[in-house]
Amino acid sequence: MIERPIIALDFDSKAEITTFLNQFPSEESLFVKVGMEIFYQEGPAIVDWLKKAGHNIFLDLKLHDIPNTVERSMTGLAKMGVAITTVQAAGGLEMMQQAKEGLKKGTAVGESVPQVIAVTQLTSTSQEQMQKEQLIQATLEESVLHYAKIAQEADLDGVVCAAWEASKIHETTTQDFMCLTPGIRPQGSAVDDQKRVVTPNKARALGSSAIVVGRPITLASDPYKAYQEIKTDWKEANK
Ligand code: C5P
Repeated sequence: MIERPIIALDFDSKAEITTFLNQFPSEESLFVKVGMEIFYQEGPAIVDWLKKAGHNIFLDLKLHDIPNTVERSMTGLAKMGVAITTVQAAGGLEMMQQAKEGLKKGTAVGESVPQVIAVTQLTSTSQEQMQKEQLIQATLEESVLHYAKIAQEADLDGVVCAAWEASKIHETTTQDFMCLTPGIRPQGSAVDDQKRVVTPNKARALGSSAIVVGRPITLASDPYKAYQEIKTDWKEANK
């Protein structure tokens, strides 16, 4: 269980991130998501800068390539000292195994190996599209559960999934397999472009192990207050 909500730093520049983070007490250690948009703009320096400010990093680059390339890339990412990374499960069992190997190779002695979790089917993919374009003759749910199982076989630490998928994923894998969930909205807040949302508390009740929250915090008039409320709701036992 990751006790702090992971804040998605979906901004276009380091300057915007600076303005955002300045609204938090300087001693507050956050868990933040750096996605490919900002990483491709600012490069590894953004990770280094956030780490030096005392934050933990979920580096969400969704690697998907031949096993050797992914292994070598993960070695580099591990050297950056991130806490969690991601791959696409569609890259296959061997690619996921080598992702983990690469992370181990790149981790300095005495440091902990970054966790790696898999994206199964993107939420932007419909069942019809999956069947037509990927020629997968299963239901979307079967595909998600199958990928989760393979990810665990590859010694990955978990998957990115919707809250309502978490309990079935835990049944198919194990209870300690991480289910990291986006699509979180506090009671009464704007849904934005998310189709199905859950509150932090509901995500916990449904079995999520970690939550990623963007706009409810980044667009709030008082981001620190919004963050604290979401954190409290997430940490409270079932209401
Ligand atoms: O602003 P919001 O809370 O909707 O942001 C959620 C974050 O999680 C964004 O960075 C988004 O890209 C990511 N995400 C998502 N749904 C998925 C996978 C990732 O919203 N299925």
